[in-house]
Amino acid sequence: MGRSGAEPEASSVARAAVVALVLLAAMLSPCCCCASAARVGGVGRRRERRLQLHPVILIPGAGGNQLEARLTEEYSPSSFACRVWPVVRGRGGWFRLWFDLSVVVAPLTRCFADRMTLHYDRAADDYRNTPGVETRVSDFGSTSTLRYLDPNLKLLTGYMNVLASTLEKEAGYEEGFDLFGAPYDFRYGLAGPGHPSRVGSAFLQRLRKLVESACAANGGRPAILVAHSLGGLYALQLLARSPPAWRAEHVRRLVTLSAPWGGSVQEMLTFASGNTLGVPFVDASLIRDEQRSAESNLWLLPAPRVFGNTTLVESRYHNRSYSAKNMTQFLRDIGFAEGVEPYRERIRPLVEALPEPGVPVTCLVGTGVDTVESLVYGEEGFEAGPEKVVYGDGDGTVNLASLVGPIKAWSGSPEQVVEVVELPKVSHSGILNDKNALDQILRVIDAINLNATSPSIHRSSQDVLYK
Ligand SMILES: *[C@@H]1O[C@H](CO)[C@@H](O)[C@H](O)[C@H]1NC(C)=O
Ligand SMILES: *[C@@H]1O[C@H](CO)[C@@H](O)[C@H](O)[C@H]1NC(C)=O
Ligand SMILES: *[C@@H]1O[C@H](CO)[C@@H](O)[C@H](O)[C@H]1NC(C)=O
Ligand SMILES: *[C@@H]1O[C@H](CO)[C@@H](O)[C@H](O)[C@H]1NC(C)=O
Repeated sequence: MGRSGAEPEASSVARAAVVALVLLAAMLSPCCCCASAARVGGVGRRRERRLQLHPVILIPGAGGNQLEARLTEEYSPSSFACRVWPVVRGRGGWFRLWFDLSVVVAPLTRCFADRMTLHYDRAADDYRNTPGVETRVSDFGSTSTLRYLDPNLKLLTGYMNVLASTLEKEAGYEEGFDLFGAPYDFRYGLAGPGHPSRVGSAFLQRLRKLVESACAANGGRPAILVAHSLGGLYALQLLARSPPAWRAEHVRRLVTLSAPWGGSVQEMLTFASGNTLGVPFVDASLIRDEQRSAESNLWLLPAPRVFGNTTLVESRYHNRSYSAKNMTQFLRDIGFAEGVEPYRERIRPLVEALPEPGVPVTCLVGTGVDTVESLVYGEEGFEAGPEKVVYGDGDGTVNLASLVGPIKAWSGSPEQVVEVVELPKVSHSGILNDKNALDQILRVIDAINLNATSPSIHRSSQDVLYK
């Protein structure tokens, strides 16, 4: 789940500082923003002997997206630094907003936070950007913006570099022909029935079109959606909001990696204290307010359906304990009353139901990594940070109960095929570059493609895989 998904082991300041330098070097290199995929020759030759593959569409987790921004007349900078930073020449004034390393430079953290912040517009019942800040996701359809981070960079989650390359090298996939990417503005979310979500709905619409064109370009073979973290929740909503006939025609399987079906307890920590992702020298309170403003973070709070009455947070200052059912009280007590209405009206109805995807699903989940299970805040209140953190099973970011939530929810339906693959000791983002995890993803995709082209093989592999 992207931005709240920093790996605990990556939080060492020394390591993060080294990573910061690497990132800085990458930013300063001339090609830092030209993310368009440089397609090399030999395409014609390769196409002739192409395998008849089901197209794959990669949908990243939150932090795996790249976001660009430009500032208009309406923008009111909160400081001199924000007035002059960044210097953009050409490119229509667009610069990279996420992820940009300038966030670690103290005066610029505020500029970053201001520009990233969303606002709930009560009259419109929807979220919008900060006035004067236009944002966009570039290269929709291409995997290029999903790959811009160094594959060895463990600081941020969500990168899909290694996965995309593995599909190309090991499974014969080819960017733009049968391999596509669906980036999105991860700050926005979706809402329950009857509530508008302009940005999130537009993404679903774009994704639907991409799926259709990918199928059409590949002999009508239905696509395989491979989604990491928050991307899995979006993919599920796409399927749930599409007619069964559309699903059958266009999607062969949904493959989710670390999908937080019922949110995560760590998200409550993010709301209460902020999560600097292990980036050193960043003012957590600025980042916290920005993170609170993101609708997708409300979406990722622990869902009552999965966490029930279990106490997740205790505050000795308030003499209260909070379960997933007490989320509005929790939001009020941490000082984020603005979040109560959108959470109650838009998000809770959305997370209360976990609709069936209506296509076969494979959920790959990491387990056996220490994951925040409950938090105790002392007499000092939430500002002081948790006094005690209790860890339990999960992928380091998402609790096991949330990762395997769909089994329970969907097991009642004989129509719904669900395969769960547990990957011991694989973390939330590690699933995107762990050797065993990648092998499992390839196995799933190979099985689908073999089934399509070679019925004699499919029978035996199907027995093993899909019980
Ligand atoms: C949760 O608490 C409510 C009321 O406090 C109670 O009615 C319900 O049975 C409890 N559910 C579980 C699963 O314990
Ligand atoms: C919490 O309980 C303590 C002692 O039991 C009391 O002194 C304090 O006023 C209570 N705080 C609140 C917010 O109720
Ligand atoms: C939390 O919810 C439970 C059950 O709905 C309720 O009994 C309890 O009073 C709530 N606690 C707070 C702190 O709101
Ligand atoms: C293999 O083909 C059968 C029949 O077309 C289908 O029901 C099954 O889901 C396929 N298996 C996979 C892994 O796609």
